[in-house]
Amino acid sequence: MNDHPKLMKQQILFSAEADVHNPWKEWGLDAFTRTCRFIVDKRFEKGELPSYLASIWNPSKTLFLEGGEGTKSIETCHEIWEWLDDFGTNRGTWTCVIGGGTVTDVAGFALSTYKRGVPFIFVPTTLVGMIDASIGGKNGVNYHGFKNQIGTFQLPKATIIDGSWMDTLDSLQLISGWMELCKHGLIHDALFWNSLQDCNPLNTEQILPFIERAANIKQEIVELDLLDHGARKALNLGHTVAHAIEWLAHKENRSISHGIAVGWGMIWSLEWSGNYATDDTTQASLNQAQIALRKWLDLIPEENQSAWLSTIAPNSLWAAIEKDKKNEANRVYDVYLTSIGEAKWHTEISLESFTSVWKQVFK
Ligand code: GLY
Repeated sequence: MNDHPKLMKQQILFSAEADVHNPWKEWGLDAFTRTCRFIVDKRFEKGELPSYLASIWNPSKTLFLEGGEGTKSIETCHEIWEWLDDFGTNRGTWTCVIGGGTVTDVAGFALSTYKRGVPFIFVPTTLVGMIDASIGGKNGVNYHGFKNQIGTFQLPKATIIDGSWMDTLDSLQLISGWMELCKHGLIHDALFWNSLQDCNPLNTEQILPFIERAANIKQEIVELDLLDHGARKALNLGHTVAHAIEWLAHKENRSISHGIAVGWGMIWSLEWSGNYATDDTTQASLNQAQIALRKWLDLIPEENQSAWLSTIAPNSLWAAIEKDKKNEANRVYDVYLTSIGEAKWHTEISLESFTSVWKQVFK
């Protein structure tokens, strides 16, 4: 684990433990519940919270935030900072953030910058939140249409993963989260990837058994490289292209979910990985992975955006790819797979190679 004064090991707690009488005590978080305030996704303003949250929740100490990419802004941070000020927040007061990845990202950023960082715990309510966004301490907001351009590293004191939230998700949220879950298998665990193949991700019962392993994969990678200097970059599989797709969508006033863009970004990456495949078996497994991802994206054809994507001129995405924060010294680097379960994260791409692979994917 990297050594950094602001960063300690993150505690990941699973819902099964929430069944006990007082899980807060079991989890060693009892003291925190006495001073806790809440930032909650507006989706749950009128809904019921699970009993372990309802037992500590105080509506007068709650700020509700709209979810969605639009909330990841400095304006939302102002709102959170004002609210923290009104409560006289200090480094001894904790905040419990309940919501999807956009809410935990922006709240985590505001909390990690307020007084140079006040403590928080995350209760992710979306699949992508449970297996990715709420683990690993990356907090941030979007800026000038670019994703996560301003951000911090600060780990939550704990992340509570509770599969019962899965019933609150629509099909777009399920497929979006599923794409990130697939990514964890593709970059780190071929057996896990193989075990996903027969799953119908629109059926939450079928997804539930995979959540714990997917969250643990994320945790394992983060523990190797918390500050994103090496191994953690593998988690960006598909993200360079995905962020460019999202940037163009934003510019054209279209909406595309992050997870769907990541799905297409990974399909691009799998095709690109084929250029480096050293044998037919690897090539075949990379092709098979593309087919599997397309099959899952096709479960919600009205959201998969393939018609729009096939009209895009690749060089119109390149400006955004060049601006990606992962680049160094004006060179563009990306992640490819040497095989399923093995990622290589520092390989240069050129406009020419990007374009030819894009045309292969969207021919
Ligand atoms: N979601 C990518 C990372 O946490 O590094």
